[in-house]
Amino acid sequence: MNAFSAGWLALREPFDREARAGACASFDLEGLAARLRGEASALTVLDLACGTGANLRALAPRLGGVQRWTLVDHDPRLLAAMPAVFTPWARATGLSMNTGGGRLCLEGSALKVEVEMLHCDLAQPLDAALLGRHRLITASALLDLVSVRWIDALAVCARKAEAALLFALSVDGSALWQPSLRDDDGVGRLFAAHQRRDKGFGPALGGDAVQWTAARLSSLGYEVTQAASDWRIDGRDGAHSMAMLRAMVEGAAAAAIEQDPSAAPWIRDWTAQRLDRVERTTLRVGHRDLLATLP
Ligand SMILES: C[S@@+](CC[C@H](N)C(=O)[O-])C[C@H]1O[C@@H](n2cnc3c(N)ncnc32)[C@H](O)[C@@H]1O
Repeated sequence: MNAFSAGWLALREPFDREARAGACASFDLEGLAARLRGEASALTVLDLACGTGANLRALAPRLGGVQRWTLVDHDPRLLAAMPAVFTPWARATGLSMNTGGGRLCLEGSALKVEVEMLHCDLAQPLDAALLGRHRLITASALLDLVSVRWIDALAVCARKAEAALLFALSVDGSALWQPSLRDDDGVGRLFAAHQRRDKGFGPALGGDAVQWTAARLSSLGYEVTQAASDWRIDGRDGAHSMAMLRAMVEGAAAAAIEQDPSAAPWIRDWTAQRLDRVERTTLRVGHRDLLATLP
């Protein structure tokens, strides 16, 4: 499973959903949607690095009303997987769904969402016209992958367009394993250093992403609100949680070894010990959500 595969995105989505529930409650999303929509017929939303659309599934029902989303990603396999991922979600949410011509339309009693999917490499200079067509610019699990320069360019474009920004699920660098093992901190330090490697956007901000972005947006006149959206994974909750813990152990170990190959022997011992006890392990991974609006 690679870092952005459809399999990994599906595995993490229930933890993302639960983590975001608390954070979303501290933002008045319905009020935000009404303010941003104004007299227009639909609220326009741009989702950057959309994967298979988890951010829309989390946000659209909370924003409510008529919405027009543009979902952007550079991976055509994730864009192509989207209709299949949306079908069971639409059924469970009580929405009808129509597809065709690279678009989706989801409709229910209090919600209508038109979705356009766009193949686009966001590491290339940002398309100011695309950003300018949307009142809300959002992304989930993206901010920690990008660089200071990328955030700067996005912030300036968004400010010019007077758009609001909502970034969900950015890591804050903390991870708490319980019961603890001697080498948890050592693996955590190498993992955090690996998170700062270039992911195509320049040196990644990693655990500093939210604080840095908040400061930059405030300097441009935005009012910034933050809320915690930590993952809480408990192996006692069953097979899905254990699979998530295994993926976290293996992902952290692979990144840590790539960061310091000489540490491989003790990291492999740590991996074996961690995998041996997933069914009685809990892990809290620190994340934050950030909402920036103009007064
Ligand atoms: C951690 S995933 C998050 C996906 C989705 N937002 C979610 O919350 O499930 C990061 C996403 O960034 C996308 N991505 C990475 N580099 C990109 C680039 N240069 N341009 C556009 N999308 C990119 C990946 O394809 C992947 O879908």
